[in-house]
Amino acid sequence: MEIRIFDSQLQLDEYAANIFIQLLARKKDAVLGLATGSTPIGLYNNLVESYKEGKVSFKDAYTFNLDEYVGVTPDNEQSYSFFMHKHLFSHVDLQAEHIHLLDGMAPNAEEECASFERKLDEKPLDIQLLGLGHNGHIAFNEPDTSLSNKTHVVKLDDKTLQANARFFSSIDEVPKHAMTMGIGSIMKAKQILLIVRGADKAAIVKEALQGPITTQVPASLLQLHANVTVLLDREAGRMLV
Ligand code: F6R
Repeated sequence: MEIRIFDSQLQLDEYAANIFIQLLARKKDAVLGLATGSTPIGLYNNLVESYKEGKVSFKDAYTFNLDEYVGVTPDNEQSYSFFMHKHLFSHVDLQAEHIHLLDGMAPNAEEECASFERKLDEKPLDIQLLGLGHNGHIAFNEPDTSLSNKTHVVKLDDKTLQANARFFSSIDEVPKHAMTMGIGSIMKAKQILLIVRGADKAAIVKEALQGPITTQVPASLLQLHANVTVLLDREAGRMLV
């Protein structure tokens, strides 16, 4: 596991963007696993700027997003589909058919997850971008006594509902279920890029990266992956030894 700590957000975002830019320069049809949340916004901004400057093209690339709320339409501002179009997809030359997003309105969520997993099997991820939840979740794989391997439907835990409530007018409006790639879907990626910012995540960063490997801290399982890069700001990395 390679851990890098940055003094500035801009440097971190630029470093992260360069990982994607270099991958796409080597492999035009790379398969990119993407994340939503506040963490990757700076990275996506940087990629959009780099695209406009002609430094990168997504024309032949494929994308798979980690997760989506159940029961939220793609045109809802809180949907992860809306987020991805707003921050990245509508600004770059990705082909619409190459974008894979879980459909929160699918009539059968279980079947939607199974179909997504089949597509992932056909197009293995070259890189998976991850953020980290305060409870150690990655995607929506919440702490538990066991974890699901494949893309599946989850009930979101209270900490996650509270963290997400900032995007909704009240906590009651936060969707209670989501679809998410499983730990196995994530771990199959050839490379994993985990980005974490902020003092409020320092304790969970330490647990995830230097604590015991346990399903109670899903991100700790990343310690078992052979090619993980972790990018942290000073605050998020301050408890690491
Ligand atoms: C988002 C996702 C989540 C977030 C995590 C951190 O697609 O899967 O696991 O990465 O909750 O969220 P932020 O970046 O908002 O702190």
